[in-house]
Amino acid sequence: MVRTDPNLLQVTDLTVQFKVKRGLFGRDSYTVKAVNGVDFSIGAGETFGLVGESGSGKSTIGKALLRLVDVTTGNILLNGQPVQDLKGRMLDFRRDLQVVFQDPYSSLNPSMLVGDIVGEPLTIHYGLKGAERDAKVAGLLEKVGLASDQIERFPSEFSGGQRQRIAIARALALEPKLIVCDEPVSALDVSTQSQVISLLEELQENLGLAYLFIAHDLAVVRHISHRIGVMYLGQLMETGPAERVYEAPAHPYTKMLLTAVPVADPVIQKQRKAERRKLPVTELPSPTNLPTGCPFNTRCAHAMDICRSDAPPRREVAGGGWAACHLTDF
Ligand SMILES: Nc1ncnc2c1ncn2[C@@H]1O[C@H](COP(=O)(O)OP(=O)(O)OP(=O)(O)O)[C@@H](O)[C@H]1O
Ligand SMILES: [Mg+2]
Repeated sequence: MVRTDPNLLQVTDLTVQFKVKRGLFGRDSYTVKAVNGVDFSIGAGETFGLVGESGSGKSTIGKALLRLVDVTTGNILLNGQPVQDLKGRMLDFRRDLQVVFQDPYSSLNPSMLVGDIVGEPLTIHYGLKGAERDAKVAGLLEKVGLASDQIERFPSEFSGGQRQRIAIARALALEPKLIVCDEPVSALDVSTQSQVISLLEELQENLGLAYLFIAHDLAVVRHISHRIGVMYLGQLMETGPAERVYEAPAHPYTKMLLTAVPVADPVIQKQRKAERRKLPVTELPSPTNLPTGCPFNTRCAHAMDICRSDAPPRREVAGGGWAACHLTDF
């Protein structure tokens, strides 16, 4: 069920640039334009899937929400409040927004017991200790499908999927409204991936959580997401309801991403392969030196002169959402 209250997270014209200093006295410094004018919102209980190739700026968006990188320009509102300027609301912010990272092998402190990993936020925020905290942690472990008596174990005693469940239990401890899931299943084998995704869906259903779900692959985000945003070189190229983006992609870049996803229907698979063969073979441009006009123009089979000079307008797509493209017949 799609809930459309847009007020939980509102990202407007977000830009994040990294200044990289190189050479003596920073003489060869350059700027990485990691995120360039991104807009999206996430409603309570909703999943927004963010997809795109490596380096397209997905994690940087997640880090900007979590305040792990500085915003260059633009606004991020959580519950209507700017996250760049929290003024004494830091604890509320940490409660409402949590994160689950890709690699459960490095994101969990190997020298901490599971009870301490999951219970730490409860101690920091509510001062819970001892038996009271352990009881809460046991409940959280049960919620994520782990036995409640595993508090005195180390992460190394668990499989990848179980470790990701521990990371999810920790993220749930403060009853957040939104969890940034940055490729949470990419390091797991395929059958474990679907179990962890089912768990995230079940938790969303029961707790009304919202997710920003980041992945490379459209196939992974398709089922969990209500809406999808497709990133390329720091820009959103297309956004819309998940089924519409997957079944009827409008932007040539989204179509290209989909050619990499295997489909059951051999006719569609053949069409997609043919579409992929039409693409010019070029390198991915660098975010330090973005192409003018549409960022995808160097790789697009349909590129026209205007695509190399003018930024594309966002055109509405039948079935919902928009695509930033000069083409008029998607
Ligand atoms: N701290 C930093 N300093 C300089 N450049 C950075 C920094 N962090 C990210 N970048 C650059 O910003 C761009 C976007 O990176 P980001 O990690 O957001 O991409 P991504 O879409 O998450 O990629 P992946 O799918 O590989 O995780 C890349 O070119 C990356 O090299
Ligand atoms: Mg990333």
